[in-house]
Amino acid sequence: MTTRRKFVQGAAALASASAIGALLPTPARAQSAKLRIGMMLPYTGTFAALGTAITQGFNLAVDENAGKLGGRDIEYFTVDDESEPAKATDNANKLVQRDKVDVLVGTVHSGVVMAMVKVARDSGALLVIPNAGANAATGSQCAPNIFRTSFSNWQPAHPMGKVMYDKGHRKVVTLTWKYGAGEESVESFKEAFTKLGGSVVKEMYLPFPNVEFQPFLTEIASLRPDAVFVFFAGGGAVKFTKDYMAAGLKDKIPLYGSGFLTDGTLPAQGASAQGLLTTLHYGDGIDNAKNKQFRFAYAKKFGVQADVYAVQGYDAALLLAGGLTAVKGSFGERSALYSALEKVKVDSPRGPWVMSKAHNPIQDIYLRRVDGNANEVIGVAWKALEDPARGCKMA
Ligand code: PHB
Repeated sequence: MTTRRKFVQGAAALASASAIGALLPTPARAQSAKLRIGMMLPYTGTFAALGTAITQGFNLAVDENAGKLGGRDIEYFTVDDESEPAKATDNANKLVQRDKVDVLVGTVHSGVVMAMVKVARDSGALLVIPNAGANAATGSQCAPNIFRTSFSNWQPAHPMGKVMYDKGHRKVVTLTWKYGAGEESVESFKEAFTKLGGSVVKEMYLPFPNVEFQPFLTEIASLRPDAVFVFFAGGGAVKFTKDYMAAGLKDKIPLYGSGFLTDGTLPAQGASAQGLLTTLHYGDGIDNAKNKQFRFAYAKKFGVQADVYAVQGYDAALLLAGGLTAVKGSFGERSALYSALEKVKVDSPRGPWVMSKAHNPIQDIYLRRVDGNANEVIGVAWKALEDPARGCKMA
C-alpha cells in the first residue's frame, strides 16, 4: 500500500514537471538535472519480499555513493508490478512515456520482464534487470540498451545437473510453476543431467503462483524417484519446503533446486529447509571483504539479513554508478554510455564479475547447504559460468 500511495503521490507531483519534460527531447535534458529512475518491481504477491530486497540493495549502494549516480541526484518513480504479466506493458509504458525515466530498473518475474524488454527495445530506454532470468532478455531479444545484473534462468540450474549426478541420482522428478523461469530452469537442469546419463522420469507443473502442492507430493511419493529438482522462490518456496517435509518426503527423497528455493526465506522455512543443497551465484557466507561489509551495512540499515535479491539490486546501482561516472552522468551519447556499462567490473558481494557480450553476468555458481538461517557455501559448482546467449545478435 505504501508503495502504491508513493506512486500516486509521485505521479501527481510530477504531472507538471512531466509536461515540461515532454517538450524536451531526452538528450537535451541538462546533465545537472536529476537522474530519473523508474523502479518496476513486485511489492505485493508471492515475490513481494524479493522486490523489497532489490529496492533496499539498490538504495544501500546509492547511499554509499553519497546519494548520487554518475554525479547526479536521483528522483525515483516506483510501480508495484504485482508479478502480473497482463499489466506489465502498461506499467512499463507509464514509466517510460509519462514519467520520462532515464533508466528502467526491473523486475523479478520472467513474464513481466519480457514486456519490459519489448518496451525497452521499442523506445530505446535503458533497462537494467536486477533479477528476472528470462533467457531471451540476454539471448534472442538482447539489445545494446538492455543489461542484467542477476542471472539467466539457464545459469544457476545448469550446474545442478552435475551435482545431482555426482551424488549418484539417476532418475529424477522435476516440479515447478508453469511459466518462463520454471520452464527454463528445468530445461537447463535437464540439459546438464541427461547429458551425463541421468533421466527425468516426470516433469510436473502447476500454474504460477499456485501453492496447492498436495497432489504432486502424493505422486512423487508413489513414483519414488532418486531425487526431486524444483524451481520455486519467495512465498511459494516457503510453502513448498514445509509441505514437502509435512508429507514425510524430506528424509526419504532428497530435494534439490536452484538456490532461490532457500534464499531470503530461511527464517520462515525453519526445519523444512535444513540441510538442503542448492546452486546459485551467491551464498551468505561468501568469504570476501566486500560481502562482509555489505552484509553488515545491509543488516544495520534495514534490520534484516541480506539475500541474493539484495545483492542483485545493489549491483544494479553499482553498474549504473560505474557506467555513468565514466560518461560524467550524460545520456547524450548513447553508444558511449553503453560501452561504459559494458566495461564496468562490478565489485559485488558475490565476488567481482563482468558482463558477457550479451550483457549478462559471467559468474561463479556456488554449491550451498542450508545451515540454520544461512546458505553456507560449500564449494564452487561451476567457475565463471557464462550463459550461452542463444540467438543473441547485438544490433
Ligand atoms: C523469474 O521469474 O525469472 C524469477 C523469479 C524469482 C526468482 C528467480 C527468477 O527467485
